[in-house]
Order: sequence, then C-alpha cells, then structure tokens
Amino acid sequence: MSKRTVYLILALGLVMSACGNNKQGDTIDTSSANCQFISTKDSSRLNITSVPNDSDAAKAFLASCINPYTKLYAQDPEAAKQGKKQYAYQGCSGCHGGNANGLMGPSLIDAKWHYAKHISDKGMFETIAGGTNGSPPEWGSMLIWHNQVDGHTGEGLDTDTILKIIAWLRTQYVGGGETPWLNN
Ligand code: HEC
Repeated sequence: MSKRTVYLILALGLVMSACGNNKQGDTIDTSSANCQFISTKDSSRLNITSVPNDSDAAKAFLASCINPYTKLYAQDPEAAKQGKKQYAYQGCSGCHGGNANGLMGPSLIDAKWHYAKHISDKGMFETIAGGTNGSPPEWGSMLIWHNQVDGHTGEGLDTDTILKIIAWLRTQYVGGGETPWLNN
C-alpha cells in the first residue's frame, strides 16, 4: 500500500467517525439558523435575537423567517382576533385606522406597498420592528417598534406581538392578486 493510500484511508475514517457523532435524533441547535433581518431604514443588518421568554411562534419565526400565525389566522377567524386586539392595543390604529385601511399612515391592507418587500411577512416585520426613515418625505416615517432594536424608546413590542399583528393584517387584505404570504 502506498503512503498516499494510507493517508486516504485515514482521512476517510476521520470523516466517517465525525458523521457518526451526528446521528439522526440528536438535538439540532436552531439558534444558529437565524433569519437574517435587514433594516428598512438603511439596509443594514437588523439584529433580533431570541430571548428566553419568546413564544414558540417567535422562536420558529426567528429561525425560519416564516410567521406561523399567518396560516393559522387565515383558517381560524377566532384566533385572528388576538392579532386585531394587539393592533388596536399597541396604537397602530391611531395612524393606520381601526380597520387598517389608512388614516395619516398608509393603508396596510391594499396592494400599494411603500416597500415591495412587504409582500413577505419577513419584510413587513423588518419595517414594523426597525422603523423607516421618511424617504421620500411625503410618505412620512415610522418609529422603531421592537423593544430589542437599538434606538427604541419606551416599552415596545416583542417578536410575538408583531407577528400576531402582521398575521391579522393579512386576513384583512383586500388588494387582490397574489397572496405570497400564504405560500410558505
Ligand atoms: C404615529 C403614526 C404611526 C403609528 C402609531 C404606526 N405607524 Fe405604521 N406607518 C406610519 C407611517 C407614516 C408609515 C409610512 C412610512 C414609510 O413609508 O416610510 C407607516 C408604515 C407602515 C407600514 C408599511 C406600509 C406600506 O405601505 O408598505 C407598516 C406595515 C406599518 N406601518 C405597520 C404599523 C404597525 C403594525 C403599527 C403598530 C405597532 C404601526 N404601523 C403604527 C405611521 C404610523
């Protein structure tokens, strides 16, 4: 046997034993599979980490970028009331209207998105969590809502609450055409 063949066999053995340590059924650490968020203000990285009291839905979203409430609320109007309640309670209705069809802030239920990425729950989450910078000025701007984002003041919302609000907004959508948020 040549020296080279011996090395090859050794290397192969190492690879196989490494695989053996990772048997199916081992716990997989999903915290490393974080969804990467982008600030709507300036396209920089928006850091939202999972915190110990995050709900299961929040954890799932932070790992996968998929809002578990969206499909649930689409099928269960009773559950969707949770999202409507938060929308009103957190004061979104003051600017976007009680039915989310617009007041001094834009409608959140038609197809005219200020930012194209709002056709995904991840994109809409980025705007609600991290705010906007008022460009163009006629759109106005929105403040930072997520209590974990730098620059946030006051009490703020956690990941779970924002997800519930988004999922409820999706149930109110009247813009027609595609509804990609339901395709996940
Ligand atoms: C003080 C007024 C105000 C409040 C309160 C407010 N918003 Fe806004 N919101 C705005 C304005 C103004 C814009 C437009 C900003 C822009 O386009 O840059 C906006 C934009 C948005 C958009 C993007 C709309 C689009 O057409 O793409 C979403 C989604 C949104 N807000 C959700 C919320 C939610 C959810 C809440 C409650 C947690 C909330 N807003 C509370 C003023 C407000």
